[in-house]
Amino acid sequence: MTRRYERAAMIAATLLFTTTFALKVTAHDNVTPQPVDTSKLPDIGEEWRTVNPYRGNPDAIKIGESAYGGNCARCHGLEAISGGIAPDLRYLEVGEAGDEWFIGRYRHGASRDGKVFMPPFGDIIGQKAGWAIRSWLDTKHQES
Ligand code: HEC
Repeated sequence: MTRRYERAAMIAATLLFTTTFALKVTAHDNVTPQPVDTSKLPDIGEEWRTVNPYRGNPDAIKIGESAYGGNCARCHGLEAISGGIAPDLRYLEVGEAGDEWFIGRYRHGASRDGKVFMPPFGDIIGQKAGWAIRSWLDTKHQES
């Protein structure tokens, strides 16, 4: 009886260890945000906008390029050219309709059935970085 109990406890402990470890690895892989210095960009307040306040701003485009490289490229591809893991962001709609869709995804990420396809970035690197990335993506836009 005691032996059986010990074995069960050991199996449980092993399982717990393995799942904790696996979860840690996944979380680490998904959320390794690269900090983005947006202090050069005009402040836009706390409230989330639906229209890009930095469109065409050269500083935003530069900051956005490196913010994209550090946070998005591993899924969406270098230079915004997708290798197929995640949608190709060159084809996002330009202008205000595309802005709203973009910032929603950026802010909240994408999950279905409890699976995280894309982690949320809104609280992690913030609104200013999001619009900077959007400004850079505009320069890579392609008509589909
Ligand atoms: C862990 C991988 C991953 C990372 C990192 C990631 N994404 Fe995504 N993203 C995805 C996937 C997968 C989808 C498709 C989600 C779906 O099918 O609903 C997606 C969808 C999107 C969409 C919607 C695309 C469309 O065509 O509708 C936008 C916009 C987007 N991501 C922007 C970003 C930005 C900006 C970053 C970096 C700040 C980023 N993503 C980082 C995986 C990722």
